[in-house]
Amino acid sequence: MSDRPKPCACTPIATRLTRRAALATTTGLLATACAKASRWEPSSVVADGGVIELDLNEHPSLATPGGMEAFKVAGVRSPILVMRIENDAFRVLSLQCPHLGCTVRWNNGTQQLECPCHGSTFDDVGRPTKGPAKRQLASYRWQMTGTRLHIAVAT
Ligand code: FES
Repeated sequence: MSDRPKPCACTPIATRLTRRAALATTTGLLATACAKASRWEPSSVVADGGVIELDLNEHPSLATPGGMEAFKVAGVRSPILVMRIENDAFRVLSLQCPHLGCTVRWNNGTQQLECPCHGSTFDDVGRPTKGPAKRQLASYRWQMTGTRLHIAVAT
Protein backbone atom coordinates (compact mmCIF):
# COMPACT_ATOMS: atom_id res chain seq x y z
CA MET A 1 0.00 0.00 0.00
CA SER A 2 1.33 3.42 -0.96
CA ASP A 3 2.12 6.17 1.56
CA ARG A 4 1.36 8.83 -1.03
CA PRO A 5 -1.45 11.24 -0.18
CA LYS A 6 -4.78 10.64 -1.85
CA PRO A 7 -5.77 13.26 -4.42
CA CYS A 8 -8.19 15.90 -3.25
CA ALA A 9 -11.61 16.11 -4.88
CA CYS A 10 -12.44 19.47 -3.32
CA THR A 11 -13.66 22.39 -5.41
CA PRO A 12 -11.40 25.46 -5.51
CA ILE A 13 -12.72 28.60 -3.90
CA ALA A 14 -11.21 31.96 -3.07
CA THR A 15 -9.63 32.35 0.34
CA ARG A 16 -9.72 36.08 0.56
CA LEU A 17 -12.03 36.42 3.44
CA THR A 18 -14.48 39.14 4.24
CA ARG A 19 -14.66 41.30 7.32
CA ARG A 20 -18.33 40.47 7.71
CA ALA A 21 -17.55 36.77 7.82
CA ALA A 22 -15.01 37.45 10.55
CA LEU A 23 -17.57 39.13 12.70
CA ALA A 24 -19.91 36.21 12.23
CA THR A 25 -17.60 33.64 13.73
CA THR A 26 -17.57 32.85 17.41
CA THR A 27 -13.82 32.40 17.56
CA GLY A 28 -13.20 35.50 15.54
CA LEU A 29 -11.55 33.60 12.76
CA LEU A 30 -12.49 34.11 9.17
CA ALA A 31 -13.52 31.23 7.05
CA THR A 32 -14.23 30.06 3.58
CA ALA A 33 -17.66 30.19 2.02
CA CYS A 34 -17.83 26.42 1.91
CA ALA A 35 -18.93 24.23 4.79
CA LYS A 36 -16.29 21.72 3.80
CA ALA A 37 -12.60 22.46 3.64
CA SER A 38 -11.78 23.48 0.09
CA ARG A 39 -8.68 24.24 -1.89
CA TRP A 40 -6.98 27.47 -0.90
CA GLU A 41 -6.21 30.08 -3.51
CA PRO A 42 -3.58 32.04 -1.64
CA SER A 43 -2.19 35.40 -2.68
CA SER A 44 1.33 35.22 -4.08
CA VAL A 45 4.12 37.06 -2.27
CA VAL A 46 7.88 37.16 -2.61
CA ALA A 47 10.30 37.01 0.29
CA ASP A 48 13.25 39.38 0.44
CA GLY A 49 16.10 38.03 2.52
CA GLY A 50 13.84 35.37 4.00
CA VAL A 51 11.22 37.89 5.10
CA ILE A 52 7.91 38.80 3.55
CA GLU A 53 6.38 42.20 4.14
CA LEU A 54 2.66 42.76 4.07
CA ASP A 55 1.20 46.25 4.10
CA LEU A 56 -2.03 45.79 6.01
CA ASN A 57 -3.56 48.67 4.05
CA GLU A 58 -3.41 46.33 1.05
CA HIS A 59 -4.85 43.37 2.96
CA PRO A 60 -8.14 44.47 4.49
CA SER A 61 -8.84 40.92 5.63
CA LEU A 62 -6.02 41.39 8.14
CA ALA A 63 -7.04 44.86 9.27
CA THR A 64 -9.12 43.73 12.23
CA PRO A 65 -8.96 40.92 14.79
CA GLY A 66 -10.52 37.77 13.41
CA GLY A 67 -9.23 38.26 9.90
CA MET A 68 -7.11 35.74 8.06
CA GLU A 69 -5.55 35.34 4.64
CA ALA A 70 -3.47 32.62 3.00
CA PHE A 71 -0.30 33.39 1.06
CA LYS A 72 1.89 31.40 -1.29
CA VAL A 73 5.48 32.47 -0.74
CA ALA A 74 7.86 31.95 -3.65
CA GLY A 75 10.35 29.27 -2.67
CA VAL A 76 8.31 27.98 0.27
CA ARG A 77 6.68 24.62 -0.41
CA SER A 78 3.29 25.15 1.21
CA PRO A 79 1.15 28.24 1.69
CA ILE A 80 1.09 30.05 5.00
CA LEU A 81 -1.94 31.31 6.88
CA VAL A 82 -1.79 34.72 8.55
CA MET A 83 -4.38 35.27 11.26
CA ARG A 84 -4.95 38.50 13.15
CA ILE A 85 -5.89 37.31 16.59
CA GLU A 86 -6.17 40.54 18.58
CA ASN A 87 -5.17 44.17 18.27
CA ASP A 88 -1.64 44.00 16.87
CA ALA A 89 -1.10 40.29 17.52
CA PHE A 90 -0.90 37.74 14.72
CA ARG A 91 -0.46 34.02 14.30
CA VAL A 92 1.26 32.68 11.21
CA LEU A 93 1.00 28.96 10.47
CA SER A 94 2.29 26.74 7.72
CA LEU A 95 -0.53 25.03 5.88
CA GLN A 96 1.64 21.98 5.27
CA CYS A 97 0.22 18.95 7.04
CA PRO A 98 2.93 17.37 9.22
CA HIS A 99 1.69 13.89 8.27
CA LEU A 100 2.59 13.61 4.56
CA GLY A 101 2.64 17.20 3.43
CA CYS A 102 -0.77 17.94 1.92
CA THR A 103 -2.12 21.48 2.21
CA VAL A 104 -4.60 21.94 5.05
CA ARG A 105 -7.50 24.39 4.77
CA TRP A 106 -9.68 26.29 7.19
CA ASN A 107 -13.20 24.93 7.65
CA ASN A 108 -15.61 27.53 8.95
CA GLY A 109 -18.17 24.90 9.89
CA THR A 110 -15.86 23.07 12.26
CA GLN A 111 -13.64 26.06 13.07
CA GLN A 112 -10.59 23.91 12.40
CA LEU A 113 -7.91 23.41 9.83
CA GLU A 114 -8.46 20.16 7.96
CA CYS A 115 -6.28 17.99 5.79
CA PRO A 116 -8.08 16.66 2.70
CA CYS A 117 -5.72 13.71 2.29
CA HIS A 118 -6.15 11.56 5.39
CA GLY A 119 -8.43 13.60 7.63
CA SER A 120 -6.11 15.14 10.19
CA THR A 121 -7.53 18.21 11.88
CA PHE A 122 -5.88 21.08 13.76
CA ASP A 123 -7.21 23.79 16.04
CA ASP A 124 -6.73 27.48 15.30
CA VAL A 125 -3.37 27.40 17.07
CA GLY A 126 -2.21 24.55 14.83
CA ARG A 127 -2.34 21.75 17.41
CA PRO A 128 -3.52 18.39 16.08
CA THR A 129 -7.03 17.48 17.20
CA LYS A 130 -7.31 14.31 15.12
CA GLY A 131 -4.69 12.09 13.45
CA PRO A 132 -2.97 10.58 11.73
CA ALA A 133 -0.88 13.77 12.10
CA LYS A 134 0.75 13.84 15.52
CA ARG A 135 2.73 17.08 15.30
CA GLN A 136 1.37 20.61 15.19
CA LEU A 137 1.55 22.89 12.20
CA ALA A 138 4.78 24.85 11.93
CA SER A 139 4.57 28.50 12.89
CA TYR A 140 6.50 31.55 11.73
CA ARG A 141 7.88 34.53 13.62
CA TRP A 142 6.44 37.92 12.79
CA GLN A 143 6.97 41.57 13.69
CA MET A 144 4.71 44.57 13.21
CA THR A 145 6.15 47.94 12.20
CA GLY A 146 3.49 50.58 11.69
CA THR A 147 1.05 49.08 9.23
CA ARG A 148 3.60 46.60 7.91
CA LEU A 149 3.74 43.00 9.03
CA HIS A 150 7.07 41.26 8.54
CA ILE A 151 7.13 37.46 8.59
CA ALA A 152 10.33 35.42 8.69
CA VAL A 153 9.84 32.53 6.28
CA ALA A 154 13.44 31.39 5.89
CA THR A 155 13.96 27.83 7.10
S1 FES B 1 -1.14 14.35 4.68
FE1 FES B 1 -2.04 12.72 5.77
S2 FES B 1 -3.40 13.67 7.17
FE2 FES B 1 -2.47 15.29 6.10
